[in-house]
Amino acid sequence: MEERRVRSGASGARPRSGATRRTEAEASRPLSEINPEYRSRLSTGMAELDRALGGGIMPGTSVLVGGEPGIGKSTLLLQACGRIAGASTLYVSAEESAAQIRRRADRIGITESDLRILIASRLDEITTELDRLTPRFVVIDSIQTIVTEEAGAVPGTPNQIKFVAHELADWARRNESALVLVAHVTKEGQIAGPKVVEHLVDAVLMFEHSDGELRFLRAVKNRFGAIEELGIFVMGAQGLDELGDPARAFVSGARTVRPAGVVAAPCHEGSRVLLVEIQALTVPAKGAVSRAFSDRIDNRRVNRVAAVLEKHLGVSLADQDLYVNVAGGIRVQDVATDLPLALALYSARTGVPLPAGLIATGELSLAGEVRPVSHRDQRLRAAGDLGFTEVLGPPGPAGSSVPPGPAGTAWRTADTIQEAVFAAFPSGKQ
Ligand code: TYD
Ligand code: MG
Repeated sequence: MEERRVRSGASGARPRSGATRRTEAEASRPLSEINPEYRSRLSTGMAELDRALGGGIMPGTSVLVGGEPGIGKSTLLLQACGRIAGASTLYVSAEESAAQIRRRADRIGITESDLRILIASRLDEITTELDRLTPRFVVIDSIQTIVTEEAGAVPGTPNQIKFVAHELADWARRNESALVLVAHVTKEGQIAGPKVVEHLVDAVLMFEHSDGELRFLRAVKNRFGAIEELGIFVMGAQGLDELGDPARAFVSGARTVRPAGVVAAPCHEGSRVLLVEIQALTVPAKGAVSRAFSDRIDNRRVNRVAAVLEKHLGVSLADQDLYVNVAGGIRVQDVATDLPLALALYSARTGVPLPAGLIATGELSLAGEVRPVSHRDQRLRAAGDLGFTEVLGPPGPAGSSVPPGPAGTAWRTADTIQEAVFAAFPSGKQ
């Protein structure tokens, strides 16, 4: 049960400046009198952040950036504030002191003089400053620490977060400014998280960890861009950096023979193809029921692919615990991970490694067919760039020819999981 304060009077009667600010928007206008002028997107000066946003941030919109504490949200946004060119920026923090922010800014080398810092946790202090400055780019760090008496006394409740997010997003829309709200997300979910404001903002970006220094910024909602767009950063001594060549970052070269259970795969994540290495391990089940342990690929996908292998190739996996990992700690969502995952499980179970130079891609149907994948030429090119000689994958749509790959990389067609396994393990035991 949560105690809530009810304001006396009608719901809309708010005795704040907000009420007067709103009146101009209340009168309807003829469509023809509305200025269609389109404000172009602001570049944040960080290519990977722009990518996750769908090409920069649109004036008048609000974006929520969520992630676990310590992952680098404040660092990312302070960097963006320092790099946005030609726009007045305001960074509002309720979590750190001004001196702490200055020290971080020095560490990441921000020299931008247009950047202003406000330490405040009360919504009315923030909106007053916003009205005074009308900055073009505003960061609120974090939404969970801002309070307004109008929504109860405790910060961080769903009520407070919704109210604060709504007011700020509304301000941004009316003033054609771009707003970023930072939100903490905990695994345990003790703090109300981005879920409660998802529908109030235009885009939601989630920051994810790898096992090391890599950070992934994934668009889970974007009203003005593609979802599942993925930005990749490295946390270094001077803040977050772009990853030099993401296509290469997650696999060792093509010439190395991988041990059994490891299969390279070209995955289409966001709008680019990344080569990843899928690792599988099967061991006799420790409990009465076998289980799949996988955090980088959805567990349900692992179980489904294992079931397809079991049914169509007679591989016994039901008495095995399945461990699946993706090297580099990237979370893979591409449906074309099915086939490489199946080959990794098969290879792990039989102990037979895949030939060097072979890479696989394709979706698997429950009937054991290898289903067509999107972006075949991009996948082929990425594989060729890293020296792979053969891409094992589905046939293209009827009538299409397989695109020629760079430097002799060939597309080898497999229609079914059986064909794929025969192709990948020519001398392996069945
Ligand atoms: P921070 O941006 O404070 O995380 P959040 O706002 O998501 O809680 O980042 C904190 C971590 O990043 C902290 O462990 C220190 C590290 N860090 C670096 O490694 N290099 C840097 O240049 C900076 C500024 C932080
Ligand atoms: Mg922070």
